[in-house]
Amino acid sequence: MTVPDRSEGYAPGKLILAGEHAVVYGHPAVAAAVSRGTTVRLARRPGPSGLDGAPRRDERLDRALREVLPSEGIGVSIESELPIGRGMGSSASLAVALVRALARLEGEEADAARCVAEGFRVERVFHGTPSGVDHTVIALGGVVRFRRPPAGAVEIDPIRPCPSLPLVVLDSGEAGDTGRMVASVRARRPAVDGTLSRIGALAADFGEALASGASPAVLGPCLLENHALLAELGVSTPALDALVALALSAGAEGAKLAGAGGGGVVVALATDRDRLFGVAARAGARAFPVEVVIPERREP
Ligand code: PMV
Repeated sequence: MTVPDRSEGYAPGKLILAGEHAVVYGHPAVAAAVSRGTTVRLARRPGPSGLDGAPRRDERLDRALREVLPSEGIGVSIESELPIGRGMGSSASLAVALVRALARLEGEEADAARCVAEGFRVERVFHGTPSGVDHTVIALGGVVRFRRPPAGAVEIDPIRPCPSLPLVVLDSGEAGDTGRMVASVRARRPAVDGTLSRIGALAADFGEALASGASPAVLGPCLLENHALLAELGVSTPALDALVALALSAGAEGAKLAGAGGGGVVVALATDRDRLFGVAARAGARAFPVEVVIPERREP
């Protein structure tokens, strides 16, 4: 068999629709793979494996790449459509795209199990103790209910048929640091355990509603309640609160911060997306649509 000397892998980004932070402590979350992502290109070449053509070195990125690449012989280039550090899963998307590209360089296709297992190793370098929801939904596509119980196997429940949702992302322009935000919530336990449990219960209800085909008019208020609970946890910011208010003023059915917070993006559910884009443009806010990425169907 001839193995290729270059390869490419793509993976989408994600948005957590319900349950971030609570998912770190064994509660359920619901996340969607979305239509912006990361392309990783690999090429065989002499010398230590690593990023080619990068203007400056990023020590954490180098360590993440070394987690799955052989120490010698592979050059990496990365093209991302995801804003970095904004809760859209840029690191998990990179992780899964890398695993896919590496498998192709070996003349294989990475299946979902390999993407989840190896993607998690890479994601751990970026975030220390991730729940795993990000790279799991990115590897599987679609909308996934996810829970990592304190003991026992991870529960992964893809919602079928995959819901189509009128999602709009509003970018605060500020980057949040996931590790720092997770640590700040952990430092406030057990005082915030009640809030975390309420977020978990809300995520379970949201997952049920989505699975039974609920409309944006039903789902939207769950997003708003989830945002209020995240604000109570202390992970929202004035800019994120203002974007949620802006989305509501433009008729969105609901909106919440998505990801770890402390910056990042707001996800809105807005049947009239054009109205929201108009209001956002007039307010000078960056807004763009995303679609849920339908899971790949492989031929048997
Ligand atoms: O900020 P992001 O996109 O990495 O999302 C983090 C989600 C958390 O629940 C806060 C952390 C985790 O590991 O699940």
